[in-house]
Amino acid sequence: MKSSPQFSLLFLLFSFVAKALPLIRTKHVNAIFSFGDSYADTGNFAVLASPVLNDTIWTSKPPYGETFFHGPNGRCSDGRLVIDFIADEMGLPFLPPYLSHNESFSRGANFAVSGATALEFEFFVKNNLTSPDIINSSLRVQLSWFEELKPSLCSTPEDCWEYFGKCLFVLGEIGGNDYAYMLFFGWSVEQTMAYVPYVISVISSAVERLINEGATAIVIPGTWPAGCAPINLAINMNASIDAYEPQTGCIKALNELHRSHNIKLRFEITKLRLRYPHVALIYTDYYSLTIDFLLFPQHFGFIRAPLMACCGNGNNQYNINLTEACGMPGVSACQDPSTYVSWDGAHMTEAAYRYIASSWLRGPYADPPILLALRY
Ligand SMILES: *[C@@H]1O[C@H](CO)[C@@H](O)[C@H](O)[C@H]1NC(C)=O
Ligand SMILES: *[C@@H]1O[C@H](CO)[C@@H](O)[C@H](O)[C@H]1NC(C)=O
Ligand SMILES: *[C@@H]1O[C@H](CO)[C@@H](O)[C@H](O)[C@H]1NC(C)=O
Ligand SMILES: *[C@@H]1O[C@H](CO)[C@@H](O)[C@H](O)[C@H]1NC(C)=O
Ligand SMILES: *[C@@H]1O[C@H](CO)[C@@H](O)[C@H](O)[C@H]1NC(C)=O
Ligand SMILES: *[C@@H]1O[C@H](CO)[C@@H](O)[C@H](O)[C@H]1NC(C)=O
Repeated sequence: MKSSPQFSLLFLLFSFVAKALPLIRTKHVNAIFSFGDSYADTGNFAVLASPVLNDTIWTSKPPYGETFFHGPNGRCSDGRLVIDFIADEMGLPFLPPYLSHNESFSRGANFAVSGATALEFEFFVKNNLTSPDIINSSLRVQLSWFEELKPSLCSTPEDCWEYFGKCLFVLGEIGGNDYAYMLFFGWSVEQTMAYVPYVISVISSAVERLINEGATAIVIPGTWPAGCAPINLAINMNASIDAYEPQTGCIKALNELHRSHNIKLRFEITKLRLRYPHVALIYTDYYSLTIDFLLFPQHFGFIRAPLMACCGNGNNQYNINLTEACGMPGVSACQDPSTYVSWDGAHMTEAAYRYIASSWLRGPYADPPILLALRY
């Protein structure tokens, strides 16, 4: 595939920013507090779901975690997630999952839960959009855990205000599961699209709530191109040719849904910036770099079929078998996950997350890059 002039320009910028940024001195960050779903979960789902799912939490079984942690630990990848690379860059330890209560949270806590939604659990129950696997862990529940933790971090309102002013908050990605559940239980993309403004308004309220606690730096990631997820491609295996994007092979309608979410989210962030000019509101992008991975896989070392999952048991071009998922007995991973974009069909490999983290910290896929937002 020929690279477009626009692409070359972007990478020129990428390398320039990457080289220039280490010279910038960034403020000390006390702690990171993270909210979201399986893109950020470092172990909460495993704790929450064990009484419900008993021994069938497949993401807590090998080969999950094999690359970096040498075993499963509740992360939905072969290794580190974007939030791990960000913590590392800030000189902080990996964020402990909040639901494993006997660790110290003085340098951060992770409230993210795999499968979590922006909208309330009750919304999904009311609309028959549930299965027993869907756990009550919406953004509001995660914020209530943060509230519960607060007294152990700071005491007076002034004290808390000052403390949180020196912390980094990462709010998301969240919303992807809201849409996934609606579609899974049979809603059309059009029906689902109508709920984007509700999802955005929940995220916006959460941002304001954190600002009212004293937050001065909040990273707000958009959603990723779900139309490129091998699992969704496998579900829609026999769609007609015009259902796919010609350049990427991803499902058009699903990607449109997520682009709509991201456009509306960015617009909302612009409005919030006007209301809270003293707060760094950082929009970060899973979407664009994931598309780059698919358009220019060789550039990133993703030399395997870019739409194929590393871990899976599928007898098809996506390596997905809908009844035999990664983590289940007899399902194994590829030889070298770093040559794949997708780990298990629904989540990315550590190699992909590392590139994404770098583009959020140093640009270009962050507005503004996190390290620029935290400069003196
Ligand atoms: C949990 O799983 C084990 C083994 O699969 C089974 O023997 C046990 O009855 C299950 N417990 C519950 C509460 O479902
Ligand atoms: C955490 O708590 C559990 C249950 O109370 C206990 O078994 C475990 O040893 C504790 N772990 C640490 C690191 O304190
Ligand atoms: C949900 O399912 C129940 C039982 O099948 C049905 O009675 C109810 O009307 C459904 N609700 C909605 C909002 O579809
Ligand atoms: C979900 O969790 C929240 C907070 O813990 C609680 O208030 C609510 O009642 C729960 N909803 C359900 C349906 O269990
Ligand atoms: C796609 O079509 C093939 C051949 O008609 C069929 O065997 C297969 O089950 C279909 N797959 C899905 C996911 O519908
Ligand atoms: C998925 O696995 C089942 C066995 O669990 C097998 O019967 C089926 O053919 C497999 N499907 C694909 C597409 O590999």
